Amino acid sequence: MVVLRLKKQRYMAALLSSTTILLLLYLQNSLLIFTYGSFGFVSVLRSPCACSICVADRENSNWFSERYNPNVPILLTSTNSLLNANVSSWWEGLQYSPDSGNYTEVVNQLFPLFPDKEHYSDASPDRCRTCAVVGNSGNILGSHYGPLIDLHDFVLRINKGLTEGYEKDVGSKTTHRIVYPESAMDLDSSTHLMLLPFKVLDIQWLISAFTTKNITHTYMEVPSTIKANKDKVMIVHPEFIKYVYDNWAEGHARYPSTGFLTLIIALHICDEVNVFGFGATSDKIWNHYFEEILTSYENGMHDGKFENETINRLQQENKILIHKGWA
Ligand code: C5P
Repeated sequence: MVVLRLKKQRYMAALLSSTTILLLLYLQNSLLIFTYGSFGFVSVLRSPCACSICVADRENSNWFSERYNPNVPILLTSTNSLLNANVSSWWEGLQYSPDSGNYTEVVNQLFPLFPDKEHYSDASPDRCRTCAVVGNSGNILGSHYGPLIDLHDFVLRINKGLTEGYEKDVGSKTTHRIVYPESAMDLDSSTHLMLLPFKVLDIQWLISAFTTKNITHTYMEVPSTIKANKDKVMIVHPEFIKYVYDNWAEGHARYPSTGFLTLIIALHICDEVNVFGFGATSDKIWNHYFEEILTSYENGMHDGKFENETINRLQQENKILIHKGWA
């Protein structure tokens, strides 16, 4: 009888300790974050991603969480296309556009033509979505970053940033190319064309490029059409552009540069962001690795100095890693 009771006690103790060990293992795997909800309750959440540091984790930087809005729409869809008066007046005043159509009428033509889907709602504590944002700075030449860049899940390239002939330094993979009509180029069929619209005419150009091909001029000559996969087209939401201007560029200059906008897009769709090919020359020129140009970032359109300070701050706050190159 006594032997039986002893056996039962040992069995219960073993069961209890293995349950405790399992529970401890589970808690160890789920990085615990305590947050105060809007009702003042304390709740327990897992880390938002499986990388060692997650961009969207707003617990570790007040500076970041004051600026980062996870709820702002990134891409235009048929259901979120209505612009509030603030966004509409700011956005429609950005660029001179003589023949612009009516925004609502133009947007109504978009989604029978292009995918009308929710994207990037696939964040999970079990995933680590890595992104390389590749700017066009000459500092990437001679860097040998190509293989490192190509290891990322997403490789976001900007405007006319070529890969052909520069693979060793910039890589060859492009999952997203962020352009506006004046900077558009042909893409392969696996790449997402991400249009940054700065005026209604830009959206009209996108429609025209895949249909009538009759828009050839905005404030300058633009290609009447481009090679790209229609089913991979995405349009950045005007509200997102204003959000980047207000929260991240803090109202500096007229509007953010394409590179800066792309970097902030990456903060919203990736868990880990590595930055390549950003950095002007010491005389404030946004030089390119693939061509000779002389564009000062102090031209009134963009504030390259402020953007650069914000990008450096993002690194200090452990949100991105800047790969500086050599030049
Ligand atoms: O010149 P472009 O706009 O095509 O370059 C893409 C982006 O790369 C710029 O908007 C800017 O943010 C970044 N860039 C940079 N330093 C350079 C050239 C470009 O940071 N020298």
